Amino acid sequence: MVSLIASGFPLFDGMAETPGGEDVFNRNCSVCHSVNPPPKSAPPVVPLANRYHQKYATKEEGVAAMVAFLKEPDKNKAVDEEAASRFGLMPAIPLSDEELKAVSEWFWDQYNPVMGRGRGLGGGKRQLINH
Ligand code: HEC
Repeated sequence: MVSLIASGFPLFDGMAETPGGEDVFNRNCSVCHSVNPPPKSAPPVVPLANRYHQKYATKEEGVAAMVAFLKEPDKNKAVDEEAASRFGLMPAIPLSDEELKAVSEWFWDQYNPVMGRGRGLGGGKRQLINH
């Protein structure tokens, strides 16, 4: 079992209603998404998170885009357009806004610079090469 602390369970922050992102992921997303390759029936989280970091400069933008996608998956919104042809389009996941936000924040944080081409991962306002 995943420990409560590792799953981001809100023990001490006084916000017991805020769902932990990893917890939401394990319950609603992990049937299709593995965290690291190899994929299950969808692209794994880490490479997807890397793509979000390449496309969006800030966590706010990345999370907002991801929440919008989760509410209404759309090939034209996808950061990875090939994925829908390879795996099929993702179904919309009926979760509350809080849960979608929590899971998207967790997802964004799975970024692994070793697998991407990022550097200077201090967060905040770093410049990404857009192309
Ligand atoms: C029934 C299987 C399934 C479930 C459950 C599922 N996904 Fe997906 N997901 C997919 C597939 C297939 C794709 C790739 C095709 C696409 O982009 O639609 C995808 C793509 C994505 C993407 C990339 C979107 C983009 O911009 O390219 C994100 C982010 C994502 N999923 C997050 C989640 C999260 C978070 C959950 C849980 C709340 C979840 N998925 C649950 C199948 C699933």
